Amino acid sequence: MKKQIVCLMAAGIMAGVSAVAMASGAPETINLMEKYGIKGKKPAVIFPHKLHQEKNKCTDCHTSDKGGALKVKIEKTTGMSNDFHKKFCWPCHVEKKVPKGKACGTCHKK
Ligand code: HEC
Ligand code: HEC
Ligand code: HEC
Repeated sequence: MKKQIVCLMAAGIMAGVSAVAMASGAPETINLMEKYGIKGKKPAVIFPHKLHQEKNKCTDCHTSDKGGALKVKIEKTTGMSNDFHKKFCWPCHVEKKVPKGKACGTCHKK
């Protein structure tokens, strides 16, 4: 009986450790222009992923709390009405009232 409890505890700790390892295994920043192979005129957006992990829930953006696929399908990547602006980055910045959340220089840094 006692042995079983110890085993369960050990399994719990292991699960906790691997969850942490997953989270820290995620990239700290992501060059989205490069990742999506966009050939544009604006400076590439270097997405501060770690900051977003700290300030949001994983499932605000991903379909699972381990990361992976995004909830929003990014199809249009050119022009001003691209899916990052219209469906992903801007709506949340507006909703969460991020200061200068729609200012070009916030994301397209020279
Ligand atoms: C504000 C949105 C946002 C939040 C919140 C977020 N991520 Fe991400 N994450 C992204 C984007 C964007 C990418 C780039 C991959 C892409 O575009 O498909 C990414 C990539 C990743 C990757 C790499 C996958 C790959 O395709 O290279 C992992 C792993 C990951 N995220 C895990 C997490 C975990 C775990 C959390 C929560 C602790 C989290 N993310 C929170 C937006 C977010
Ligand atoms: C689910 C909500 C959410 C999404 C989606 C989201 N953001 Fe944010 N973003 C935030 C929040 C909240 C902050 C404010 C963080 C803080 O308190 O500093 C922020 C801040 C930022 C900042 C400012 C960081 C700084 O230096 O202060 C940048 C740059 C940024 N986001 C880029 C992006 C880009 C690019 C995308 C789309 C690829 C995106 N965000 C999508 C919630 C989001
Ligand atoms: C919250 C983040 C965010 C803000 C604010 C933002 N953008 Fe973007 N934009 C992106 C992301 C992400 C992409 C796709 C990745 C990339 O091109 O680096 C993109 C792509 C673009 C593109 C298509 C690719 C290219 O370089 O031609 C244009 C044009 C553009 N943005 C213009 C603007 C202008 C103008 C503003 C200010 C009115 C602005 N963006 C504000 C995140 C943002």
